[in-house]
Parts: sequence; C-alpha cells; structure tokens
Amino acid sequence: MLTTEDIKGVIEKRGSSKEHLMFILRDLENISGNNQLEIDVLEKVAEITKIPKSTIAGFVGFYTMFKTNPRAPFIIRVCKSGPCHVMGARTIFDAVERNLGIKPGEATPDGLFYLEQCECLGVCSVAPAMMINYDIHGNLTEKKIKQILESYKSQKAIFGEKCGPEVEGKACVIDDDRQTKRLLVMVGKVDPLSIDSYIKNGGYAAIRKAIREYSSDDVINIVKDSGLSGRGGAGFPAGLKWSFMPKGDMQKYVICNADEGEPGTFKDRVLMEENPHLIIEGMLLCGYATGATVGYIYVRGEFRRAIERLQRAIDQARESRMLGKHLSGSTFSFDIFIKEGGGAYVCGEESSLMNSMEGKRGFPRFRPPFPAGAGFMGMPSNVNNVETYASVPMIIEHGATWYKSLGTEKCSGTKLYCLSGKLNRTGLVELPMGTTLRELIDIYGKGIKDGKTFKFAQVGGSAGGVFGEDLLDLPLDIDQTIKAGVTLGSGVVLACDKDTCAVDFLLNIISFFAHESCGQCVPCRVGTSQLHFLAKKFAMRTAVEKDIDSMIEKAQLMKQASLCALGQSPILPITTTLKYFREEFLNHCNTRYSCPECDMTLERFYR
Ligand code: FES
Repeated sequence: MLTTEDIKGVIEKRGSSKEHLMFILRDLENISGNNQLEIDVLEKVAEITKIPKSTIAGFVGFYTMFKTNPRAPFIIRVCKSGPCHVMGARTIFDAVERNLGIKPGEATPDGLFYLEQCECLGVCSVAPAMMINYDIHGNLTEKKIKQILESYKSQKAIFGEKCGPEVEGKACVIDDDRQTKRLLVMVGKVDPLSIDSYIKNGGYAAIRKAIREYSSDDVINIVKDSGLSGRGGAGFPAGLKWSFMPKGDMQKYVICNADEGEPGTFKDRVLMEENPHLIIEGMLLCGYATGATVGYIYVRGEFRRAIERLQRAIDQARESRMLGKHLSGSTFSFDIFIKEGGGAYVCGEESSLMNSMEGKRGFPRFRPPFPAGAGFMGMPSNVNNVETYASVPMIIEHGATWYKSLGTEKCSGTKLYCLSGKLNRTGLVELPMGTTLRELIDIYGKGIKDGKTFKFAQVGGSAGGVFGEDLLDLPLDIDQTIKAGVTLGSGVVLACDKDTCAVDFLLNIISFFAHESCGQCVPCRVGTSQLHFLAKKFAMRTAVEKDIDSMIEKAQLMKQASLCALGQSPILPITTTLKYFREEFLNHCNTRYSCPECDMTLERFYR
C-alpha cells in the first residue's frame, strides 16, 4: 500500500495540474508493487491535486494500461492484433496459460504474474509478441515462452537486457541493399544515445541552414514544393498544413504524433529508437517555420525504449543548445517535452491525442476548429507524425527538387513499408513511394512463407483494405491507392497465405475496432459492437446470407455518422474482404461447414 508521502512525492516531482495526470498515475502504478491503482490512492491524488475524483476515475477507466484491481509485479500482455493473430497468437495464449495455470484477467497463485490480452505492441515483424511489464519479446514459440517465464520467476532478464534483442529497432530493418534509404540511412550507423554521433553524421545541419539562410516562409515553401505528404495515414500535404498556422506572437505548439497504434505498424518506433535526434530536428524546423516555441512528442506508453531514447536525446540537445533559447545565436527559441499515452488506439487521432495530452480521456473533438486554429490547450498547433517530421531535415538540406526525384508524380519521396505476416522475411523497408505490393512481397519479403500461395494482403493496417491478386501491381502511393478504392494508410503490408480464413481474419479486425471504440459517439459505439456480433455469427456458422448486407449497411452508416476515423474505418476492410471472399462467407452460413481457424478463435476468445 502506498503511503501519503509516496503519493505526495510523485505529485511534487510531476506537477499537480491535470495535464500531468498520466505521468502521476503511471509512476504510482509502477511503485505500487502489484501494478494496481487502488481506489484509496486515487482519492488521495484527487485530494492533493484538487482534480475532481470523477475526472480521475474517468481517466483511469479510459486507458487500458491502468487497472484499479490488484494485479501482480509482472503483467503479461499477449498481443492479439492482426499480424500476431495470423502468426499464431492463439497458441501463444495457450502456452502462457498452460505454463502459469491462469487465464486472462487472473493472477498466478504465487502472486507473481497477471495475464492480459492486448492489441498491437508495435513489433509486428517479430509476431507473435508479448510484453511483460514494459519488456517486449517477439518471435515467440512455446519453448521460448517457457524460458522467458522461468527467467522472470528467477527475477533476472533472459537476454541480458530488458527486451528481446529481436525487437530492437535496428533489428527490425530488413538488410537489403536494393532499398532507397533516406530516412533509414543512419540506422545502425548513428549512435542513438549520442548527439555527437548525430552531429558527426551531418545532424542539425538542416536547422542551422534554415536559421542562416531562410525565412520561416521560405521553409514552408520548400516543404510545400517538395510535395511531402503526411505519413500518418491521411496523406495531407505537410507544407500546406504548416501554412495554416496563424502568424503572430501567440503561444503555438508543434506536436509529434508518436502514438503508433495501427496494427502492423512499427516504422515510427524504429525511427524513435534508432535516430531520435532526427525527429527533434524535424520538429525544430516546423517550430522555426510556424513560429511555435514549444513541441510535444506524444508517445505510446508501451514504447519504453523509444521514450527513454527520446528523453535522453532531448536532454542532450538542451545541453548542446540545440534546444532552448536563441538557437544558433538567432532569435528562435524552441523546447520539446514528452507526453505518454495510456493504451488507447483512438489517441492516434489528432484531436483525441490533444485531449489526452491535456490530461483528459482521449475523446475526439468536433471539427472545426482544426488544430491550427485551436489545438492543444486551445492554442494553434501543428500535428504531424514521426515519419513526416523525420523527412523534413533532408528536404531542407538537399532541396525540394532532390526530394521529388523519387516517388510518383503526385506522391514524392520514399515510404517506410512495414512487412509482416506469412512472408519468408518480415521487417521495415524504405523504398520510393509507389512501390508495388508484388515487389514488396516477392523481393523484400522473399515470397510467401513455406512455399505456400498468396491469398491476400491487408495494406494500411486494420483500417486498410484487403488486396487480392488483381492489386499486386498497383503502385502503393497515397493517390493511386485511393483511386483504386483502397488506401496506403500507414504503410502496413500484412501478407496472408491460402490457409488464412477470410472470415476469421475479418472477425479479428472487427473485434479490434469494437475493443478500441472510445464510446463517445453512438454510431461507432453501437455500430462496432453490432458488427462484432455479426462477424462472430459467421465464425460460428450461424449467420444467414442477408447478414452480409447488414454488415455493409451498418459500416456504411458508421462511415457517414461517426465522429472520427475509428468509426469511419470498418467499411473498407469489410467491403474489400467481401469483394474477394463473399463465397467463403456464404460457406460459413452452414453449421456443418468445417473451419478449424474460426473454431480455434472461438475456443480461445469466445468460450
Ligand atoms: Fe502484435 Fe503488432 S505486435 S500485431
């Protein structure tokens, strides 16, 4: 039980205002001994900070990483999102349960372990994966699970460091010289723990050049001319977005969306872990261009290594006067701070993210106003994701024409593609925008695993469309995927072989949306649960043909009426899966139809 002094100590260190609530609660949970936020502790926090009890209760209930019930010193979270599901997450659950004799939501009799299901941990190239407290382990097998659990029982880490070496950022980059590395060129060469190493490799030259040679408008125009589009999924032109920030001396913010939660995506994590100063430099350039003086990086709470490395890089940049007042002897001042997420996919949506940064539940906001008008704390804010900011230093250094020399007519530059699923080789690759799915699978993924045949790939994450063979040669850029009725999204390529059941696959996606719906708007809250019910009927083989139309109608209604992208998303995976596999869904409308995949999922998650 935490004492009042413990609680006071944490609040004193973190600050007592609402915007620090995430840090306060995380610190308290970490020192609680059993990863629990007891009601008494929350009441004491309310008393000391003067934050209403109801606000704190709502906050804790919203973020899945927090729990008020007793857990254990070691929380095991096994990932069940798309890539892990396809790669055998169900057998991993079984192995953990067998080894420990517990089910999700239970603690071992010795009180050491507590088991939970979780969504994507951002290490999908080494799926299936699990996290023990904040240590992530991938490429799991039954044997490896036994070893890992034994090592925690004896209180020592198995690999000599916290996470498994396979999940470290640089280990997730595919080693293949045919790539066109711009963003990844320094990965493995630059020491992410050293600003000197970054500077020695040309780091911070772009911001110095901008301060020396360009006005803020010049920087915006160069970014506009480069054609850089946002890499978070929506693909909005970055330079144009920056130009929406108002002129004037009011407080303005640069926000980096590092809440990389789209299942299958792990590119931003690699950049944060392996080249954190590149992101800082990109944000500095945005601050210089827009007149903002403060930046925030909102990082997923699960990404401990990324958070630690970013914080270290920020500290070093401050010491080296690359952050702070009057940079490079100019009038430009800028500083960066980290905010953490609490395990809510919806916080990847920019307005939810800003609410979360303010210490609120991560509900999306009505728009307008847009962030450039009223963002974080009601002030003008520019939100881009990690890959977007990381692309800016090279544009300023080498120019817009150079940047546009790669990519397609409407989508310039390179793209980070995240390969996962049933491939002989998975990982991160950097290639010109417009690389085809066939190239990604055949060349960089080395083909479908075990000599099996390709069935489909989901591109863009859980919110993305399913691609059949007819789309293998579609150039994967933002523009051409939209024209083909699909999306590039965050650059995920989850490949599936002929043994993957399309019904089981769609059930997994819909259960993800149902779990992650924040519940604020009715179309999404009710719609995702109804879609989940219908998808389950097909898996149980109790559906009828008209349930197919019903799923499409509901998803269409959600697209029209939901407040944010989460509720608008299920329509694409549903319609594209049905476009190719309607027959398979009809087959599942028969109780005598045999489907081991669906049976395994039903047994595992719906017993
Ligand atoms: Fe499991 Fe990404 S780590 S799906």
